[in-house]
Amino acid sequence: MDDRKIRPTGKPLTFRTTFRNAVYEALKRRGWKETEGDDWDLHWTEREWMSEVFDQVHLSSWQRVNHFRNQRELCRKDLMVKNLKRHKRQLQKDSNQAEAEAFNFWPLTYVLPGDYALFVEEFKRNPTSLWIMKPVGRAQGKGIFLFKHLKEIAKWKSDSRYNTENNDAETYVVQRYIANPYLVAGRKFDIRMYALVTSYQPLTVWLHRSGFCRFSSTRYSSSANTMADHTMHLTNVAIQKKSDSYDSDTGGKWGLRDLKLYLMSRYGPAMVDKLYYDIQMVVMRSLFSVQNVMMNDKHCFELYGFDILFDDSFKVYVIEVNASPSMTANTKEDMDLKVELLSSAFDILDLEGNLQGNELRVGGYDLIHKGIPIKQNGASQYSTMLGCDVPVGDQVARSTEKYVGSTVNGGPPEAEVVKGKAGKKDGSGTRGGSNSRRNSKAPGAT
Ligand SMILES: Nc1ncnc2c1ncn2[C@@H]1O[C@H](COP(=O)(O)OP(=O)(O)O)[C@@H](O)[C@H]1O
Ligand SMILES: [Mg+2]
Repeated sequence: MDDRKIRPTGKPLTFRTTFRNAVYEALKRRGWKETEGDDWDLHWTEREWMSEVFDQVHLSSWQRVNHFRNQRELCRKDLMVKNLKRHKRQLQKDSNQAEAEAFNFWPLTYVLPGDYALFVEEFKRNPTSLWIMKPVGRAQGKGIFLFKHLKEIAKWKSDSRYNTENNDAETYVVQRYIANPYLVAGRKFDIRMYALVTSYQPLTVWLHRSGFCRFSSTRYSSSANTMADHTMHLTNVAIQKKSDSYDSDTGGKWGLRDLKLYLMSRYGPAMVDKLYYDIQMVVMRSLFSVQNVMMNDKHCFELYGFDILFDDSFKVYVIEVNASPSMTANTKEDMDLKVELLSSAFDILDLEGNLQGNELRVGGYDLIHKGIPIKQNGASQYSTMLGCDVPVGDQVARSTEKYVGSTVNGGPPEAEVVKGKAGKKDGSGTRGGSNSRRNSKAPGAT
């Protein structure tokens, strides 16, 4: 790649990580050597390491680490909304009204305890709404609860954690609950999908094609008396696993491709293209909102896990963005997906110096932005490869389609296929065909 730094040759590549999940598997399969010292080429680390150690060490130009220093600007629930709102205000100030209006993809959110009075005002204006409380510093559905009446948060409010003078005070967001999610076979799901950011300046984004839907194991109801049933309302795998009706064969998951086929059979390709493109754009707009806030650093990259939900009118929401999405797999397909996700990310980082620098696709990733939007080949209006087949075979199978930056909408396709190194183009060898057929029954459908 233009900006890559090639490591001196002669020594095998080394990695450091404490993870023992798909991360370890992907690194081991690559044949890199593990180290516990500072002589790593790639460090897959916890977020805490970034705040505690990153600034204290001198890194060689080729060393790479899997977080940006202030990743929490996007990945903490309260800061994400703050940045989205700020970016929207800036667009309005710049008279970019159309783009400002597109920044409407997060549920109405207040940060507590600070915004309590504002929240109560809004609460009274819409007394029939359901609300969801989420601690900003936790994950996997921990500490979350739904409520409908103010008195239901009285206990939380009287708790010492609410007191801002208390050092243990825990910040929460309270958010309008999306009570009309799109359902498949009567079940709620959200989408977990992945975007690899290799630089914020210029913003360089690789979107992985094959996210998945995480289904709840209980039929959905928006009735207030179901609010305590987390297996109905929270789609985190950690929550679903506790349910008696959890399906350990599918892991309660469907690939994005399976969802695409299901929706296409009902609504046709144009509507599904638009929906998947909308999903891609909320990912991009979330990244735009922090582009000027993030401390760009040539050593850093981030593999984000986006939680996306769409409602029964196909309006798309970003629920949260994870800097440490789970790399633990709950089925064999899940393990394959995650190992491919990581292996192809390592291909893109290109510590081996294999890439030409003009790749549009590497494994299951498509380059969607590099300073400017990258239009996919063949695209006219909506263009996203999200939910398309992931080519399989050679781990570094990659397209060497030349890209020419262009605006996303309109105009003729400008990406030109010159040659496929692995001799494969989309569809010649695919993952998902047989899985899709096997999984085409909706999780839990009867
Ligand atoms: N505003 C909301 N409306 C509907 N469902 C929500 C909302 N916020 C969260 N959820 C559900 O709760 C789950 C957990 O919320 P999330 O914000 O991702 O927190 P966590 O960090 O614990 O995963 C989501 O995956 C989704 O199923
Ligand atoms: Mg989540």
